[in-house]
Amino acid sequence: MNIRIEKTTNPKPLPADDNPLTFGTIFTDHMFIMNYESGKGWHDARIVPYQPISLDPSSMVFHYGQEMFEGLKAYRAEDGRILLFRPDKNIERANNTNRRICIPEIDPADFLQALKEIVKIDQAWIPKRPGTSLYIRPFIIATDPFLGVRPSDTYLFMIILSPVGPYYPEGLDPVKIWIEDEYVRAVRGGIGEAKTGGNYVASLASQVKAHDEGYSQVLWLDGVERRYIEEVGAMNIFFKINGTVVTPMLNGSILPGVTRDSCIQLCRQWGLPVEERRISVDELFEAAENGTLEECWGSGTAAVISPVGHLRWENEVVQIQDGGIGPVSQKLYDTVTGIQLGRVEGPEGWVVEVK
Ligand code: COI
Repeated sequence: MNIRIEKTTNPKPLPADDNPLTFGTIFTDHMFIMNYESGKGWHDARIVPYQPISLDPSSMVFHYGQEMFEGLKAYRAEDGRILLFRPDKNIERANNTNRRICIPEIDPADFLQALKEIVKIDQAWIPKRPGTSLYIRPFIIATDPFLGVRPSDTYLFMIILSPVGPYYPEGLDPVKIWIEDEYVRAVRGGIGEAKTGGNYVASLASQVKAHDEGYSQVLWLDGVERRYIEEVGAMNIFFKINGTVVTPMLNGSILPGVTRDSCIQLCRQWGLPVEERRISVDELFEAAENGTLEECWGSGTAAVISPVGHLRWENEVVQIQDGGIGPVSQKLYDTVTGIQLGRVEGPEGWVVEVK
């Protein structure tokens, strides 16, 4: 793919080295854009100065939400290399999302090339402090000016970059999670396993309610029986119950997280039994009551490994690991971030160098 490059003549100041970055508020100097048109395919790949884009108010994305996004990160290794973590998994998931919501797929090699090029151009923005990275947000929006409901014939694929710190202000301190019993996020056969905005807007009312009660995030139950644990929205969820690592199986309504898959592979490599299966909220609270709920953590690109210290369901609250971080959560955090930063040898192909 040929990428036209127009560099900014007016670079922004980089965040200071001691800036304790938060999540998703600062954007770099450039962005990647590519257009799609029926009959012409994806074309006109370019990297241009970061800037607002102009869209017709009738653009379909504004009305029916035909859009997808991904999230991955670039890291600066101690030896200076720039590393991406399992970008092939994000690209594969992006095209799964595209198929589900009728967006034309992107050639995986072109997608990877675009990621590498934009990161290379804005590499000075990769932060160096522990716990920071350059978050990469690829996304596609439907741009036909049309108010009927059908797949768009035109799209924009863009990649923007943001130097970030922890997703949760708590950092590695355990978060408090609210198990939602009123609303649901997704149902099997819906779009729960696709990475598209609709799943996130569905979470807002519950998130506001949970925040008001002093909880960081919402843990969703299945949309039919409302008994089985699904995911947190910004992350997948894991429990260690009586020595076994348990996580909800991918059932069509849960996002297949890249960090989720990495946790499963690492735990198995360490000889820990891992079960991907249905877990009811009753089983969870029973385990908490009889003392076999040993750990709980969330996994996600933005969240990395985020220990969970409290779970609330209806009027019951349980504390896990005395509200502190557990040994498996800590080992996963150290190992995953170690691999991402090139300090720890990971499985073949997990890190991809940007050269
Ligand atoms: C990510 O972890 O990359 C996500 O896309 C989740 C989002 C809520 C920040």
